[in-house]
Amino acid sequence: MIALLIGTRPEIIKMAPVVRELVKRRIPFLLIHSNQHYSKEMDADIFNDLQLSEPDVHLGVGSGTHAEQTGKIMIALEGVFLQHKPDVLVVHGDTNTTLAGALTAKKLHIPVAHVEAGLRSHDYLMPEEVNRTLTDRISDILFAPTNAAKKNLVLEGISEKSIIVTGNTIVDALRQHKKLSTQSTFLHDHSLKEHEYVVVTLHREENTATRTDIEKMFALFTHAHMRMKVPFFWPLHPRTKSFIEKEDIILPDFIQTSPAVGYIDMIALLSNASLVLTDSGGLQEEAYLLHTPLMTLRTSTERPETLSANFIIGSDREKFDRAWDAYIQHTVGWDGGLGDGNAAVRIVDILEDSKGAYGI
Ligand code: UD1
Repeated sequence: MIALLIGTRPEIIKMAPVVRELVKRRIPFLLIHSNQHYSKEMDADIFNDLQLSEPDVHLGVGSGTHAEQTGKIMIALEGVFLQHKPDVLVVHGDTNTTLAGALTAKKLHIPVAHVEAGLRSHDYLMPEEVNRTLTDRISDILFAPTNAAKKNLVLEGISEKSIIVTGNTIVDALRQHKKLSTQSTFLHDHSLKEHEYVVVTLHREENTATRTDIEKMFALFTHAHMRMKVPFFWPLHPRTKSFIEKEDIILPDFIQTSPAVGYIDMIALLSNASLVLTDSGGLQEEAYLLHTPLMTLRTSTERPETLSANFIIGSDREKFDRAWDAYIQHTVGWDGGLGDGNAAVRIVDILEDSKGAYGI
């Protein structure tokens, strides 16, 4: 039997097309949720939006330090694997859940398939870079979303035979939900006018760990606001929300906030924004696919396919100016390939083709 492991909001969204494809083909699977994300808006609301059925197993690990979270997931998962004896474990992306899943499976000699393999920022201060690189190193099947991701893996000595370029499942997810997002009333409910607001998101450790990190970003936002003269809308990740509250940080008055937003509303919000400023990997992909102007609040990206319209600005005001000028002068393009919307079909084809091996 196939086991699928998810734990955080982006894993739920990006694995949903694979789950749907398995259901469509009536292939039995075990869906395991680590509960790394557990708040209603980071978990239950996303399941609802995606119309996904409940996971079969909840590990209930919740928040903690990296070691606590990774360790707790491994301990809980080992019991589940010993009980259910899956023939393969499918993990996604670069979270603590991903690495914990891959390590636990591998030590029980359960083959690991990694969806979104081969992304590299080459910044090993990011926990995600550590998680994704180590997961790739011990995976048996590497579902690389693009040729650039495949190249990274080959350069690291991973056998080409185990790498399959599938496209990114985010393209599948977006296609499956774009229509629904037209029914969203989120813009109206929050008094936002189409193409007259900036969407901001910040949750990376490197941007939100200290007061100085956040204030550096506020200086950038204030500069951007003076140029663009439109309101900013910021759905707060629980990590950032609790930090802002703990530190009594006062937000500039042109920024409206909300709790983390559901998937359908987020697509509506992104589709109609004048600009997206984000440090999220998934949002870089989604804004790019929706052709919404985009700048990344980091110093690197593991998504080079988006660079024709994705400006890596960190908190640098001059870089913001140059990027916004490029948008005003229409010197950007959206020609980078992230996928054709059939990634999940290819992934399940491979899992199904390995019939004997994975007990399908
Ligand atoms: C995790 C992933 C990151 C991914 C992100 C998507 C790792 C190392 N990081 O980061 O790659 O981009 O998810 O959101 O795995 N919290 C809640 N409720 C929740 C979840 C989190 O309140 O449902 C708060 C807690 O204070 C928690 C903090 O957010 O300590 C951080 O959550 P955590 O899952 O550890 O990391 P993320 O920042 O969400």
